[in-house]
Amino acid sequence: MKNPEKPLWETLLKPFFQTFLIDDAELARLSEMIDWEAGRSRFGQADFQYPEYYQTQNFHGIEGGYLTKTAALTYDPITRYVLPPNEDWVRQALIDRIGGQPRRILDLGCGTGSMTLMLKKRFSEATVCGLDLSPEMLTIANYKAQQAGLNIDWRQGKAEKTPFVPHSFDLITIALLFHELPPVISQAVLKECFRLLIPGGQILVLDGNQKSLRQSDWLTNIFEEPYIQDYAQESVDAWLGNAQFEAVQSDDVWWVHQVSQGMKPTPIRESNFSTLENRNEIFVPAI
Ligand SMILES: C[S@@+](CC[C@H](N)C(=O)[O-])C[C@H]1O[C@@H](n2cnc3c(N)ncnc32)[C@H](O)[C@@H]1O
Repeated sequence: MKNPEKPLWETLLKPFFQTFLIDDAELARLSEMIDWEAGRSRFGQADFQYPEYYQTQNFHGIEGGYLTKTAALTYDPITRYVLPPNEDWVRQALIDRIGGQPRRILDLGCGTGSMTLMLKKRFSEATVCGLDLSPEMLTIANYKAQQAGLNIDWRQGKAEKTPFVPHSFDLITIALLFHELPPVISQAVLKECFRLLIPGGQILVLDGNQKSLRQSDWLTNIFEEPYIQDYAQESVDAWLGNAQFEAVQSDDVWWVHQVSQGMKPTPIRESNFSTLENRNEIFVPAI
């Protein structure tokens, strides 16, 4: 494991967050309003096999990682401070890059649903689904959606191997997930996205800026993120290309974030290539 024994996060920043930035009484009130048992039985499948890379890590220094109430309750209050200059602006950078009017949207690794709720608010007519491994994170996401009066389909599942049939979605979003995965899994997730999107469908990935992260080892050590240094060495653009997406592009967002995008190629009429005979009705995939 690349995390230092006692990261700065554990020794200094976590106590600072807990003392000054997280309102414990508020979190206790929120926790009491949530029916955790109902959440676990609704979103936690009895025989679900959690991946090794997920279950064995203490993300953000929390014992048990995302499979805990503590992780789910503290995620939103902490995220507010770790997406400079402003969480909503950073998330809006992804929303602003959506082309057209998607009707079926999937948000992979949706966590507490902050991005998923923004998608549903922006495209109220669309069917929106949020998928995550953690029943606790999904329980909070579901609570937030109910409070906002938004109808969202929350599912427990692995982003790299979902239960959906091919061509199920027009748009897939992935926010703040890839820096928490081994790169080989992120690439498997993109291949799964290619399978799930309709031809012409769009993929959008919001995450830490790989160029900036490469130049700031000290920063990647702080937050006890087990895979972030591996993520920083790679290229989401290259991964998208390898997964056969076209029109691949990444934009820097406030220097420390990036939004990457790609499109699943649309079929090309074979008749476009043929001058010999009329094959207008025959379609061949562009790949
Ligand atoms: C940093 S959070 C991001 C949450 C959310 N997308 C956001 O923008 O705030 C990462 C989330 O990914 C989930 N996750 C990690 N690996 C996953 C996988 N293989 N499949 C689905 N979800 C995963 C975790 O449970 C966690 O909720």
